[in-house]
Amino acid sequence: MSQKDQIYRDGSLQADDFVFNDRVVRVFPDMIRRSVPGYGLIVPSIALLARRYAQPGTRIYDLGSSLGAVSLAIADAVEEPGVEIVAVDNSPDMVARFREIITERGTLAEDGPRIQVIEGDVLDTRYENASVVVLNFTLQFIDREVRADLLQNIANGMRPGGILVLSEKIRFESEAEQQLQNAWHHDFKRAQGYSDLEIARKRDALEQTLRPDSMDKHIERLLAAGFSQAYRWFQCFNFASVVAVR
Ligand SMILES: C[S@@+](CC[C@H](N)C(=O)[O-])C[C@H]1O[C@@H](n2cnc3c(N)ncnc32)[C@H](O)[C@@H]1O
Repeated sequence: MSQKDQIYRDGSLQADDFVFNDRVVRVFPDMIRRSVPGYGLIVPSIALLARRYAQPGTRIYDLGSSLGAVSLAIADAVEEPGVEIVAVDNSPDMVARFREIITERGTLAEDGPRIQVIEGDVLDTRYENASVVVLNFTLQFIDREVRADLLQNIANGMRPGGILVLSEKIRFESEAEQQLQNAWHHDFKRAQGYSDLEIARKRDALEQTLRPDSMDKHIERLLAAGFSQAYRWFQCFNFASVVAVR
């Protein structure tokens, strides 16, 4: 069971840079659900997309898989034969807990996709024979300078007709819109029970770690990487998701 996220409640804690360590792992499902508007809809929607685009005998990559919410939803949804899910995360604590969750859950459907959980960097991963690739709130943590190379590597390892789902916190070109969307997101977090102090502390901790790009920048980068079409299918305040077709 996920504990309640109270990491930034205690006034004595340093607002140090955000790290995906054991402390975060323990509260992660509660944290992401109460911080990312629409997360509870995005995950099952990605499973629906995977069901449509998974090709027999191919791989599905879940990049920055954390505790495997996306991998597990896809494993339940995809019916094509011979599909393997490859979940990659560079946080040892996340990977260890995800492996425990798979064991606790028991065997996945006999004929459904197998999940391989890899502790590794998505920048060093080899992408091969992929029909579906998911970056669900992960690209925002990768250095801006290497985002285009990563997307290019992913695209090179994809089958024609495959898709990449990219979900991100986004920023806005207009300062006026940026301020409004931030305020609306903060209203969402307040409504989820976070105090103003917790919101401010988490924002400070994430500032150096989570670097959002604009929607235009994401679409431009996806098209430059070799995807033929890229469309936003979801947005709630400053969180959005795009499907790019290889
Ligand atoms: C916000 S979480 C992703 C949430 C998850 N995809 C979900 O839908 O529940 C970001 C994850 O990306 C991982 N991550 C960040 N940079 C990474 C990298 N370079 N390689 C692999 N994983 C990375 C973090 O450890 C963290 O677990």
